[in-house]
Amino acid sequence: MKKLKTLLLVAIIGLLVVAAGLGFLFGFDNPVAWILIGMVILIPFIYNWKVRSDQLVWKDSYSVGIAQLDDDHRKLIELLNKFQTAYEYHTGEEFERKALEELVDYTKYHFDHEEKLLQDNNYPDFAAHKDQHVAMIAEVERFVEDYQVRGHEALEGVAQYLQGWLINHINGTDKQYTSHLQEKGLN
Ligand SMILES: [Fe+2]
Repeated sequence: MKKLKTLLLVAIIGLLVVAAGLGFLFGFDNPVAWILIGMVILIPFIYNWKVRSDQLVWKDSYSVGIAQLDDDHRKLIELLNKFQTAYEYHTGEEFERKALEELVDYTKYHFDHEEKLLQDNNYPDFAAHKDQHVAMIAEVERFVEDYQVRGHEALEGVAQYLQGWLINHINGTDKQYTSHLQEKGLN
């Protein structure tokens, strides 16, 4: 699917260049040819805008009311965006693999951090919350295994899936601990 999109993009650029070339046969003052050249120049900017508009931007409404966990969530969003950029721009295997590893490592670190805070403060729903983290890590590990086998292609849709999961988890499950932790004096 991703390959098809790239091929389509290359075909469109190729057609525009050929059409502009033909247009210039009618003279260098042919406005249609210049419009076609303008369209070729705009394509990377449009692609850039599209990739950026698909990225997550931290909003105050994502806050769980505990500064150290908000900091973790901000960092997770940053690493997720970095991973999405590495994937979308075909930045090469090394950068892509590093971005994925960084994201996975930080996700594990953050889950441990959050779980420790919940456990230390006797959060009553600790077990159910931890189950969600464990299930997510298992899922992420499946992505990584698939990546070892199939490479770049295996990552299609992964960033979008992780974005959706993270925001749902923050807004749904994480925010449930806010009042408990704040009553314990955390903020
Ligand atoms: Fe959580």
